Amino acid sequence: MTASRPTFNPARALAVRVLTRVLTGETFAAPALDAALAEARLPARDAGLATHLVYGTLRYVLLLDAALTPLLRGETPPKARALLLAGAFEKLVLGTPPHAVVSEYVNVARMARLASPALVNAVLRRVARPAETEETRYALPGWLIDVFRRAYGERAEAVLADQLQPQPLWLSLSSAGVRSLEAEGSVVEPGPQGVDRVVLARPLRESAAYRCGQAQPINPASMAVVDALGDVEGRRVLDLAGGAGVKAALLAARGARVTSVDVIARKHEAARANLKRLGLRADLLTHDLTQPLDLPPAPLVLLDAPCTGTGTLRAHPEIKLRLTPEAVEEMAALQARLLPNAAAAVAPGGVLVYSVCSVTRQEGERVLRDFLATHPEFTPEAVPGLEVPHVPAGEGVLTVPEAGLDGFFIARLRRTA
Ligand SMILES: C[S@@+](CC[C@H](N)C(=O)[O-])C[C@H]1O[C@@H](n2cnc3c(N)ncnc32)[C@H](O)[C@@H]1O
Repeated sequence: MTASRPTFNPARALAVRVLTRVLTGETFAAPALDAALAEARLPARDAGLATHLVYGTLRYVLLLDAALTPLLRGETPPKARALLLAGAFEKLVLGTPPHAVVSEYVNVARMARLASPALVNAVLRRVARPAETEETRYALPGWLIDVFRRAYGERAEAVLADQLQPQPLWLSLSSAGVRSLEAEGSVVEPGPQGVDRVVLARPLRESAAYRCGQAQPINPASMAVVDALGDVEGRRVLDLAGGAGVKAALLAARGARVTSVDVIARKHEAARANLKRLGLRADLLTHDLTQPLDLPPAPLVLLDAPCTGTGTLRAHPEIKLRLTPEAVEEMAALQARLLPNAAAAVAPGGVLVYSVCSVTRQEGERVLRDFLATHPEFTPEAVPGLEVPHVPAGEGVLTVPEAGLDGFFIARLRRTA
């Protein structure tokens, strides 16, 4: 009789490889996972497991490291660390039966040659929840916990706990898009800012709604930034730091004549492809906004500035593993250079919307306060059309990152002279 060959689910090996790349700082989770899943062509259930393991492990790294560190001596190679973190996530957070976790990960270690099976066996058998501290409870460094407390006061504990939940998919859909997704078996639930919360029956890029340009992924808090511009139909809009042009596309869909500006030319390629898919058009301009813009002033200008992304930790949990307080200050210094150049592009009587997907005081409230102190020709106005929960933040608002919404600072200013 031959001994049966040990088996393991390939989703786990794929998740460990993706985690290794993300944890060593080589790349971000979304592109790494997309590329790995596209290559591996796993059945939908396994692709779902791999996704859950990658994002879940990243959300809990701080807790999992606290659990693993007492069991490890010396340097742990990156692949072994990623594998042990994923195993500990399944055992301590998902509640997968311990014997199943140990045997699955020992097999992954052996057959995919990712770590020493003996080490995996010894560590995953013994790993247990560490003593609870605030940092392990929220799997967040203390300085970031303070950022959330300062931003959200008594709502902060609920917001912090919420950052550990899986992120839902939000789509801006035409009515034909809703019908098409539902016909494929997806579940579509209306959400704030006209954005729907969707549980897909098949991968988004394979759905007819996406391929036919009837669906655009966007978080409702990000849509609130678009809505903050008010009525854009037939009007010229400058979309500054426009990136891959998601907001540019949504503005164009509302009939705006959009020029989207970004310093990275490669982002325009993505924007162009996306606009084509949606059957929309916008002008795309490569320019470094630390330098003045040479464009005729526009009645509506959006600066959706580069930021640290602390309002998007649910969707991008690796941010919290990399970010430092110094990086927040550096980003705020960059934003403070971009805002006056965006302001100079606003026609008299026009509107400037300043937004960042970060909840630090430095990048939102403080950048705006310092700008207003030297630009008396701009007056803050209420942000119109806000349906997502929000709290005041100086002369702007902060959307509350709960239930899958992102945290955005949004301010709307009128140029009076
Ligand atoms: C928050 S993202 C923009 C997202 C975009 N508004 C959207 O909704 O798809 C910020 C963008 O700022 C761009 N950026 C960073 N520094 C810049 C600079 N000095 N000048 C122009 N764009 C810059 C980045 O390339 C990035 O695409």
